[in-house]
Amino acid sequence: MNPHFPAGPPPYPLGAPLVRREGREKVTGAARYAAEHTPPDCAYAWPVPATVARGRVTAVDTTEALTLPGVCAVLTHENAPRLATADDPTLLVLQEDRVPHRGWYVALAVADSLEAARAAADTVRVSYATEEHDVELTTGHPRLYEPETVNGGYPATRERGDFDAAFADAPVTVDVRYTVPPLHNHPMEPHAATAWWSDGHLTVHDASQGSTKVCEDLAALFKLEKSEVTVVSEHVGGGFGSKGTTRPQAVLAAMAARHTGRPVKLALPRREMPAVVGHRAPTLQRVRLGAGRDGVLTALAHESVTHTSTVTEFVEQAAVPGRMMYTSPNSRTTHRVAPLDVPTPSWMRAPGEAPGMYALESALDELAVALDLDPVELRMRNEPDTEPDSDRAFSSRHLVGCLREGAERFGWQPRDPRPGVRREGRLLLGTGVASATYPVLIVASAAEAHAAADGGFRVRINATDIGTGARTTLAQVAAAALGVPEERVGVEIGSSDLPPAMLAGGSAGTGSWGWAVHKACTALRARLRDHVGPLPSDGFTVTADTRQETSERSPYSRHSFGATFAEVQVDTVTGEVRVRRLTGVYAAGRILNPRTARSQFTGGMTMGLGMALMEGSSLDPAFGDFAERDLASYHVPACADVLRIEAHWLDEEDPHLNPMGSKGIGEIGIVGTAAAIGNAVWHATGARLRDLPLTPDKVL
Ligand code: MOS
Repeated sequence: MNPHFPAGPPPYPLGAPLVRREGREKVTGAARYAAEHTPPDCAYAWPVPATVARGRVTAVDTTEALTLPGVCAVLTHENAPRLATADDPTLLVLQEDRVPHRGWYVALAVADSLEAARAAADTVRVSYATEEHDVELTTGHPRLYEPETVNGGYPATRERGDFDAAFADAPVTVDVRYTVPPLHNHPMEPHAATAWWSDGHLTVHDASQGSTKVCEDLAALFKLEKSEVTVVSEHVGGGFGSKGTTRPQAVLAAMAARHTGRPVKLALPRREMPAVVGHRAPTLQRVRLGAGRDGVLTALAHESVTHTSTVTEFVEQAAVPGRMMYTSPNSRTTHRVAPLDVPTPSWMRAPGEAPGMYALESALDELAVALDLDPVELRMRNEPDTEPDSDRAFSSRHLVGCLREGAERFGWQPRDPRPGVRREGRLLLGTGVASATYPVLIVASAAEAHAAADGGFRVRINATDIGTGARTTLAQVAAAALGVPEERVGVEIGSSDLPPAMLAGGSAGTGSWGWAVHKACTALRARLRDHVGPLPSDGFTVTADTRQETSERSPYSRHSFGATFAEVQVDTVTGEVRVRRLTGVYAAGRILNPRTARSQFTGGMTMGLGMALMEGSSLDPAFGDFAERDLASYHVPACADVLRIEAHWLDEEDPHLNPMGSKGIGEIGIVGTAAAIGNAVWHATGARLRDLPLTPDKVL
């Protein structure tokens, strides 16, 4: 028996509430983020955004900027290094004179100090030939078309049965429209990069959710081998999707470093982020539901209209969850998109599900009112046996369990269904519920596991910690697979020099990385078990990847489910809505670390609270950009806005996922929360508000 391995089951099974390994570094400021690396002779960059919404740059006058002290260069489309190709055209910065939207970068000042770079950027004079622009999305917009697919590769339109006939025949119907405004990711750490070239090798510290793809993109853009590029994302201060793809800061910093021959640091100004790091596109949604008097749905239509930019097509898949949530023999789900002169939308936490389930779950609440049926009961009556869209079996589906346990924990009953009848002084009180779902995604990843001669272990994989606790959870997965105490396992993540892996996105990080880590560690354990005598001085190393395991589509429909319950108070004098209590119950497979998982769930729910009550921006039709571009005008919830928030989960066993039995948990918390709060506002006031966010001006 090898001394590395005690006999019997792993002494440290999954599910322990371990603290984040890098928690102390983070709270003491020792952890360094992308903009906190300052190589010797580092220069600083400050970008120049376009001030017109559409047109061409006719001239860039950099004369004054270049006379300022400490300024070393101003890059424009005329002198910037040429880029090769990118599958994301938003990365082709400073390559041509076209301005596709306001805020698009047209120049970059580089100087010895941040202050000098900023002063230089201010003096760059850009002349434009402007063209008419249009940033206003309407349901009848002439540019609307039906895309071939929407995000996630789903077909834009699905029809089952005969919706029109069933809806016309249904004894009880609702036909309602909801809007979700543009939403911004606004991670605490802005998008930042520090880049340098050394003997032809490009190194970039980048604020990214996954540096494997950033490395590939930079290699393609600068015509390099992947081995000639290193992208490090050691600590990342949130992303919520906006750092899920390569962003201009990495490209601009690398260009400026090449142009000047010095390391260059670029942190995007907060007010410029909405234009260049993606946003959740607005959605104009219509939901029609038809049901029998028993509440069983006979017809369901969900139609979503959204925008994209003229740079690339990005279609928020808001109607997709309507295809799998409820029994619906007659169903129509459609998406239409209009390419407008707006910044390019992109991924934001639970893309598709967050806005789509807001509309669907709000409409369901309206149906419950029309039926005079309890909204929890209505959902239970529409529980499908198989996924309606594909007829595949669910790998596991415990929505009903979540609704039951949530109702119990929240104290849903007894509930007077009448709206506007609970008063506390000038406050009106109400409760609301909504369901949540998010698909299980798993993407091929590779990992390396090493056993050292001294009894220590090391796991290497290009996972990213965006605040989730990835290092800690992966150590737990490795320890369980190896059958050793977790503290004997070192975890190395956050560099493209490590084995390539899925980004921290799509709620797919832990499942994808964990599988590769589990596989490498299981192979290492087998190798050690067979080994007799002491290990060689350099130990053993095993590599594994999950290409094979992830190559085929699962025969099962795999989703996390949840139920969110909210209690609100509405101030009849000020119109302010406050969420007194928010309870979420989730079924998301095995929870690998309850401490970090709870923070994922409650973080998502808090973001849903923001979506319901305060977040949202507007496109200024005159100037063509977002009117709310900083945290003073774009409000996100502060601690004082979150009174009591609880996340719970069911113990769910699902053998059809991965060796850990886990589903993703990063996004489902936001799904359903806005609808639960909106439904509670109706219950409090009797007013059905269908345009987010529910700010005091709308409530009064
Ligand atoms: Mo998330 S929007 O997939 O980073």
